[in-house]
Amino acid sequence: MSLNRHSVLIIGCGSIGERHLRCFQKSGRCVVSACDINPTLLAAMHERYGVSVFASIERAISELQLDAVVICTPAHLHLPIAIQLLNQGLHVFIEKPLAIDAVLVPQAREAIRQAQRFVAVAYVYHLMPWIADAREFVRNGRLGNVLHVSSVSGQHFPTFRPAYREIYYARHELGGGAIQDALTHTVNATEWIIGPCTQVFCDVAHQALEGVTVEDTANVTARHGSVLVSYAMNQFQAPNETTLLIHGQTGSVKIEVHQQRWGSLRHGDKDWTWQQTRARERDDLFIAQANAFLDGMEGNLTPLCTFEEAVQTLKFNQAALLSAKTGHPITVE
Ligand SMILES: NC(=O)c1ccc[n+]([C@@H]2O[C@H](COP(=O)([O-])OP(=O)(O)OC[C@H]3O[C@@H](n4cnc5c(N)ncnc54)[C@H](O)[C@@H]3O)[C@@H](O)[C@H]2O)c1
Repeated sequence: MSLNRHSVLIIGCGSIGERHLRCFQKSGRCVVSACDINPTLLAAMHERYGVSVFASIERAISELQLDAVVICTPAHLHLPIAIQLLNQGLHVFIEKPLAIDAVLVPQAREAIRQAQRFVAVAYVYHLMPWIADAREFVRNGRLGNVLHVSSVSGQHFPTFRPAYREIYYARHELGGGAIQDALTHTVNATEWIIGPCTQVFCDVAHQALEGVTVEDTANVTARHGSVLVSYAMNQFQAPNETTLLIHGQTGSVKIEVHQQRWGSLRHGDKDWTWQQTRARERDDLFIAQANAFLDGMEGNLTPLCTFEEAVQTLKFNQAALLSAKTGHPITVE
C-alpha cells in the first residue's frame, strides 16, 4: 500500500456520494474534497467531514491538484463528466449504472484509451466476499458447466430510500426505475460469475410504490450464452433479501446476500455446506471498494467492475426496458 496521499474529488454528495466521501476518507490513503450543485449539501459535507467543498467541477479542477474523481451524480451525467475529466488526465470511478444509453460509450472508450488512467464502475457486489468466493468456486469448474441460474431479490424501497419520489429514481431518463436502479446490481454480479447476458425477455409493472410511475417490479427470462437465467425482483416487499441460485452439472451454489453467506450442495450431499464470511457493516464494503479503486490507480489488479463489464450491463438494462416496452425478446448485441 502506497503512503502517497492521493487527491480525490467526490462529485455529487447525495446519498451514495456522502458514503463514498466518508469511506475514501476512512481509507486513510487520500485527501478528499467534495463538489455538488446544492449549496446546503456542500455546507453539510464541510461541517461533517471537514473537507474542502466546491460548487462546480471547473472550480475544483482549477483550485486543486486532483488525481481522481468519484462520479456520484444521477446516471445521465456519468459519461459526460467522465469524458471531461479523463481528458484532464484524471482517474475516474463511476457510480452505477454506467449511463442511461450507449450514445457516449465510444467517446468514453476513446477518452480512456487516450488518457491511460484507471477507470472502474462502482458495482459494489464485486467487493462482497460471499459473491467473490462463490464466483471463484463456480469459475474453477466445481459445479461442472453452469446450466441454470435464478435470482430472487427485493426490498421495501420507501424504508431504505424515503426520498425516492424526489430523486433520479422517479424517471427513466435520469437512471430511475427498478431495472436501471436495482436489478442492475444482480445482473452485473451474475454476468461477473457466469458471463454476459445474450438475450432478454422482460415483463415489468408499477405495482405499489406511491408517487412514481416507473416500474417497481420486474420478471426477466434471460439467456447468458447457453445458461438459462431468471430474475425476479420488486421494491415493495417486506424482506430485504437477495438470493442467487446457480445450478451446474454436478451441484448447486446458493448466495444469500442478506445473510452474507454462500453455500454449495453437490449431488449426493444431504445439505448445504455454508461458507460464512465475517459480518460486515455497509461502510466496510465501501471502504474496501475505495481501497480497491486506489489500488487500481496505483497500477494494481482489482476485483472492481471494469468499464467494458459495465457497458455490457448497460446493454442488459436497455434490452430489458425495450423488451418490456415491445413485449418481445431482445438479443443483446
Ligand atoms: N452503489 C450503490 O449502492 C448505490 C446506491 C445509491 C445510488 N447509487 C447510484 O449513485 C448515483 C447517485 O445516486 P444518489 O442516490 O446518491 O442520488 P442523490 O440524488 O441522492 O444525489 C445526487 C447528487 O448529485 C448532485 N449533482 C447533480 N448534478 C451535479 C453536477 N453537475 N455537479 C455536481 N453535483 C451534481 C445533486 O445535487 C445530488 O446531491 C446514481 O447513479 C445511483 O444509481 C449507487
